[in-house]
Amino acid sequence: MRSLDDFACGKLEALERARLRRSPVVTARDGIFVERGGRRLLSFSCNDYLNLSGHPAVIKAAITAAERYGVGAGASRLVTGNHPLYDELEDALARLKGTEAACVFGSGYLANIGIIPALMGDGDLIVLDELSHACIYAGAKLSGASVHRYRHCDVGHAEALLAEHRTAHARALIATDGVFSMDGDIAPLNALSQLGNRYDVWLLADDAHGLGVVGGGRGSTFVNGSARSPIDVPLQAGTLSKAVGAYGGYLCASQAVIDLMRTRARTFIYSTGLPPAIVAAAIAALDLIERDPAYAGEPLRKARLFTRALNLPEAQSAIVPVIVGDAGAALAASDILRDNGFLVIAIRPPTVPTGTARLRFAFTALHEDGDIARLAEIVRQQILRR
Ligand SMILES: Cc1ncc(COP(=O)(O)O)c(C=O)c1O
Repeated sequence: MRSLDDFACGKLEALERARLRRSPVVTARDGIFVERGGRRLLSFSCNDYLNLSGHPAVIKAAITAAERYGVGAGASRLVTGNHPLYDELEDALARLKGTEAACVFGSGYLANIGIIPALMGDGDLIVLDELSHACIYAGAKLSGASVHRYRHCDVGHAEALLAEHRTAHARALIATDGVFSMDGDIAPLNALSQLGNRYDVWLLADDAHGLGVVGGGRGSTFVNGSARSPIDVPLQAGTLSKAVGAYGGYLCASQAVIDLMRTRARTFIYSTGLPPAIVAAAIAALDLIERDPAYAGEPLRKARLFTRALNLPEAQSAIVPVIVGDAGAALAASDILRDNGFLVIAIRPPTVPTGTARLRFAFTALHEDGDIARLAEIVRQQILRR
């Protein structure tokens, strides 16, 4: 239709002018390297922090499951898609996170847009960190609750919002990333948990980038707590697509909350179950994470080599941002690194706030210390000095 295409072309032209147009580039991953645009590049843009997506035991588990159960799940989990591997995966997640139960969703994004509207509705209150991931925003919007944002990691501001609004609403939720996806810092979960208890507000932390990486691999609730008494976060969401190297999302919580998800979360009910091979891969990867907390510490060690070399604030996770400002400058910086053999994707608005376009470096266990030193040197000489 003419008006439809005119609309799309107009939007695309405006994005192009602002250097904000995006399109997928064919990329073949090969361990920590990628083949892209005819070049072989060392990638610092994969969230496969433990390189488990290519681990022989993980691949073997996927192949065995596909052979045994077929490729697709065939139906939603409440129909016939709940193949036998799901119980094992949910038990493994609950054990690793120290919760009563867990529920697996189709992806991390689907988890949050299912969980939040299953708990919150019209007349309820959601207070969220302004840098929360897009799927937290989407879930909050879908729920119909009133949504207020607090300044990034500012517990005082969160408290001020609760003091002002809490009593006017039946139920309330604080939502935040555990490890922030574009900044790499960790939410003040202990303080948020205490705030939640004071105001009778439920706390949801999305640990997509924490699981497998911080807290001995158990995630951000274990960073300042101990293995025996992690920080009390009643709703622990996350993904199986990053350090776990597979796919899918999860919620770890009490048995009652998980039972509610299984009967009310729309993205659980009305979407086909994950392929058995993916569930088997996630089980194998979680087993590796649980058995080797020292290996899980490697991405953070590598990230800290980089931040020390550049005198940046010490990395708190595997993610390190170098903020360059406008979108064009971020693209140019990414090109410089590409010309030196590295893939570091420029992250631009609306993924990050206007004026904070950046290079986002993601470190993995298998990056070589020498390559990190070389990368840091190029960043120092050719990007930070410009
Ligand atoms: C904090 C956060 N939550 C959720 C997601 C979505 O997870 P998934 O890729 O499994 O949909 C991401 C990234 O993709 C993320 O960074």
